[in-house]
Amino acid sequence: MIARQGKSVLVTGAGSGIGRAIAEAFLADGNTVHICDVNPRAIEDFLRSNPGATATEGDVSRIEVVDRAVAEMLGHVGGVDVLVNNTGVAGPIAGVEEIDPADWDHTLAVDLSSHYQNLGHGTWPVRYPGERDLPGQRRW
Ligand SMILES: NC(=O)c1ccc[n+]([C@@H]2O[C@H](COP(=O)([O-])OP(=O)(O)OC[C@H]3O[C@@H](n4cnc5c(N)ncnc54)[C@H](O)[C@@H]3O)[C@@H](O)[C@H]2O)c1
Repeated sequence: MIARQGKSVLVTGAGSGIGRAIAEAFLADGNTVHICDVNPRAIEDFLRSNPGATATEGDVSRIEVVDRAVAEMLGHVGGVDVLVNNTGVAGPIAGVEEIDPADWDHTLAVDLSSHYQNLGHGTWPVRYPGERDLPGQRRW
């Protein structure tokens, strides 16, 4: 069992559902939690129930949102020890000819690319502790 107390935890897609349950479990264990979610109402509700937590609003398939979440988390809690890449969407459920290519691309962006981006940019402070500059244009 890994000791989880006192960690700074970033959970994506945590305004509701499984991500919210994960975020609240980390809070209950005495950790500091920052969430990122695309739904402002879900964030509002989460923060109302968990006033000790902080949040970034945005779509994690966009790299600038990941960078903003990490930057805001560094500003609020000073670091990122644990990243929970929870966000995922079911995507369109229809015959292939009925699926809008934009929906297809968005599903891949959320379910695939966002995890690669979160690992690259979201774990930057873990891999380079003390370095305050986020990757920005730099490659990891
Ligand atoms: N619920 C299940 O039965 C199930 C089964 C297998 C896997 N999963 C996976 O577990 C994870 C959580 O599932 P869930 O059922 O709690 O999901 P959910 O659909 O309830 O969504 C959870 C949260 O993610 C947020 N979100 C959606 N797209 C986002 C984006 N692009 N950027 C930021 N936030 C976004 C939503 O606003 C919501 O608050 C997902 O990756 C899902 O694919 C779920």
